[in-house]
Amino acid sequence: MAVILATGIATLDIINEVACYPAEDNEVRALSQRISRGGNASNTLCVLSQLGHQGFLMATLIDEADGQVIEADLHRQQIDTRFCPRLSEGKMPTSYVTLNRQNGSRTIVHYRDCPEVDLATFQQIDLSSFDWLHFEGRNVPELEKILQHCRQNNQNVPISLEIEKPREGIEHLFEFADWLLFSKHYAQAKGFSSAEEMLTILPANYQATLTWGAEGAYGWHNGEIIYSAAPQLDRVVDSLGAGDTFNAGMIHRLVANRSLNESLQFASQLAARKCQQYGFENLV
Ligand code: FRU
Repeated sequence: MAVILATGIATLDIINEVACYPAEDNEVRALSQRISRGGNASNTLCVLSQLGHQGFLMATLIDEADGQVIEADLHRQQIDTRFCPRLSEGKMPTSYVTLNRQNGSRTIVHYRDCPEVDLATFQQIDLSSFDWLHFEGRNVPELEKILQHCRQNNQNVPISLEIEKPREGIEHLFEFADWLLFSKHYAQAKGFSSAEEMLTILPANYQATLTWGAEGAYGWHNGEIIYSAAPQLDRVVDSLGAGDTFNAGMIHRLVANRSLNESLQFASQLAARKCQQYGFENLV
């Protein structure tokens, strides 16, 4: 069991499942609707909790009805929220998700009126009791200060950094992480057409993973690429949070000093399992 701090966001996800992705200006009926807690860091912790770890979340919580629903679910998942900054004004980040029953794709419209975590609040945490620190790559200028603070105050604890979206200046953060967890979306937005193309421009002393959808996942270690094929899936029903699940699988194996190859295989299988079921319940 490891003690893991994840910093990012918690959201309310309103998920409408539709028979096929609607055309613009259409009106369609949802086949089903569910409302659940989401957010990359919170999803990753939810899976890590199922894998037996003690997770602490660092994400802004707003004292409104949705904030209470989200926090209750975090507690149900044994995720500790004591470090979360709490605000009395604003709105919890909310994602309106259209889930396509044909292929499990998820299209997200995200609304937020919620400040990001800042250094002053993060600094209040005693980092000495954590075995692993995980960060969502967001709020880049402030996160750079937070990562610098982690490196100055607890040099030895491993840091993973999720690079999911191409945010301005996000590349400045790379040097602070032991593990960079890249998405295909980021790689493609940066103009790379294959995982190899992107990973081989990283310095040889960087360690990284890059998921590439149904093709599989790639790793970068000692200047070499490691490839793990994705399990063949007959049907994808829900890909929402598959990347967050993959990241949890990687952290679970890496914190136990398993090899990159083994960690990639484990994380890919876990993410595949996630795609074959709705939500995250009983994933492990
Ligand atoms: C899935 C997810 C959702 C959330 C959205 C935020 O990866 O974390 O739960 O609404 O992404 O970007």
